[in-house]
Amino acid sequence: MLLTHATLATMNDGYGLIPDAALALEGDRIAWAGPMSALPAAFRALPAQDCDGRLVTPGLIDCHTHAVFAGHRAVEFELRLKGASYEDIARAGGGILSTVTATRATSEDDLLALALPRIDQLIASGATTVEVKSGYGLTVEDELKMLRVARRIGQHRPVAVRVTHLAAHAVPPEFKGDAKGYIENIALPSLRAAHAEGLIDAVDAFCETIAFSVEELRPLFTEARALGLPVKLHAEQLSDLGGAAFAAGHGALSADHLEYLSSEGITAMAAAGSVAVILPGAFYTLRESQLPPIAALRAAGVPMAVATDLNPGSSPMASLTLAMNMACTLFRLTPEEALLGTTAHAARALGLGDRGRIAPGLRADLALWEADHPAELSYRIGATALHQRIYGGRLDA
Ligand code: NIG
Ligand code: FE
Repeated sequence: MLLTHATLATMNDGYGLIPDAALALEGDRIAWAGPMSALPAAFRALPAQDCDGRLVTPGLIDCHTHAVFAGHRAVEFELRLKGASYEDIARAGGGILSTVTATRATSEDDLLALALPRIDQLIASGATTVEVKSGYGLTVEDELKMLRVARRIGQHRPVAVRVTHLAAHAVPPEFKGDAKGYIENIALPSLRAAHAEGLIDAVDAFCETIAFSVEELRPLFTEARALGLPVKLHAEQLSDLGGAAFAAGHGALSADHLEYLSSEGITAMAAAGSVAVILPGAFYTLRESQLPPIAALRAAGVPMAVATDLNPGSSPMASLTLAMNMACTLFRLTPEEALLGTTAHAARALGLGDRGRIAPGLRADLALWEADHPAELSYRIGATALHQRIYGGRLDA
């Protein structure tokens, strides 16, 4: 098919804007993109859709979500508003562990039914690729259950799902005070089983005082790399434990959150080519005051991605355009950086070279917007301006 009279943001070198553009798609790939006036004759006979000047971007990519879970944590939200902190609640056995209790008690089919409406909201905000983590099971069987749910999402919705093993998300009550034992007896065996079943694309962990230290995580990352799986890390969200540098030392695709990232961490990420995934929804929800070092990341040339962190505790948010708005307003990203953060840089954070930009040969995953300038995507608060999506060369019905 052929899109005509589009305002194209190719995301090649910044916005890579092409006004009055045409875009030819063949199968699930982009065949050609450029000015209308330069459209090769070979593509002129394709069935055309007039975009009427609308903005067309790559389909958005949410590179960090916890979209599979049961229950909610509205009561915790209320407790925090009465003065409790996220860490207080976690130490008292709430927080992530309360979602673990609910998720363990829910079947695979029911978890899928709960996840799909969340995925629909992400799709409605322009997403065509979504990463989904485990991490609320914390037994071998419950982690595998979550990972199977994540894998099944793509069979039910027009969206590509990248699945991440996050058994090292919290220490469950059965292993209280024994993080090492949990890694040996649950995290590592679930990693091997999930990999053998072809369930996972990457391995993540939560490096924090209320979760795991770098030394506790070392055997897990060593095993992930031995299995040929890329790693990433929730690092420096609430304190600086040197997580980003540790992850970078294992060639991490990304380090995520990063409010307390040190200059050593930045240097290590730059050297390893790791992406900085910033998660303004969690910062906003937890009313953090420590800002991630955006200017220093920018100066060091570390690519920044923006994601929702969709989860029931620290970021109950299912809109990528809202995440972009928050990244700009709270963290001072430019709207161009925010859009790179949900396209080209998010693709890189997932290790995907076939999407995130508009260029011949890349996947025909696109978002058509009720907008004529790409800054509009970050500028509006909450309202989604999506007109239509194209996933794998097919227009949504
Ligand atoms: O990315 N930081 C750890 N994990 C999630 C929170 C999960 C939860 O609170 O349920 C996050 O913020
Ligand atoms: Fe997270």
